[in-house]
Amino acid sequence: MIFAANFKTNHTRQSTKAYLESLAFKLSQKRLEDRVLIFPPATALDRYEGDFTVGAQNAYPTRNGAFTGEIGLEQLEEFGIKTILIGHSERREYLCESQEKVAEKYRFFMEEGFEIIYCIGEPLEVRESGEKAVRDYLLAQFQGVDLSYKNVIVAYEPIWAIGTGRSATVEEIASTHAMLKTHMERLLLYGGSVKPANIKEIAAIEGVDGVLVGSASLDVESFSEMIFA
Ligand code: PGA
Repeated sequence: MIFAANFKTNHTRQSTKAYLESLAFKLSQKRLEDRVLIFPPATALDRYEGDFTVGAQNAYPTRNGAFTGEIGLEQLEEFGIKTILIGHSERREYLCESQEKVAEKYRFFMEEGFEIIYCIGEPLEVRESGEKAVRDYLLAQFQGVDLSYKNVIVAYEPIWAIGTGRSATVEEIASTHAMLKTHMERLLLYGGSVKPANIKEIAAIEGVDGVLVGSASLDVESFSEMIFA
């Protein structure tokens, strides 16, 4: 299983350091086959010691240049960061990242050999329109995205389940993952209100290779409870 923690706009440099020190200690007991990925805010990127991988939540597809407020490859290389989240619904929605922009980022970081966690997910009105609408919507989010790239992990995160406390049902996750797996041969995470109370049933679903966790990852005790559930 893959356990990925997306801190979003939470934690400081100081609290991330304390979190990761505590996590590193706990992970000395982790199952060998499990992997842990942490996506802290950009200000907390650094080199950390421990059995986990630190990645960037976002970066601009450039080595460096004039892109006010953004970070590029040079800023990630300083800390040996080689993992990035691309396509998260909050960036698509609040930061107005179009599919074209998302695909451009994907291409850039693919060419740089990054491990990419590529996020897709449908809004509630699409889910309510039925399985075909969900399929069409999700597959459109692969436009311009080369899934033959070996170093990509896909994360399915229904937007209506993110940060709402309401996870998708086991049936919804199982059928969506099964559908997605007929279109790609990549590891597939589920994200959206994953927490200690539901990790066991979600992890047991066929086609779920791991989880991407927001809110319930912010507390190191809660996140490690899921890893060791
Ligand atoms: P959540 O967020 O766990 O708070 O629902 C998941 C995500 O956006 O990755």
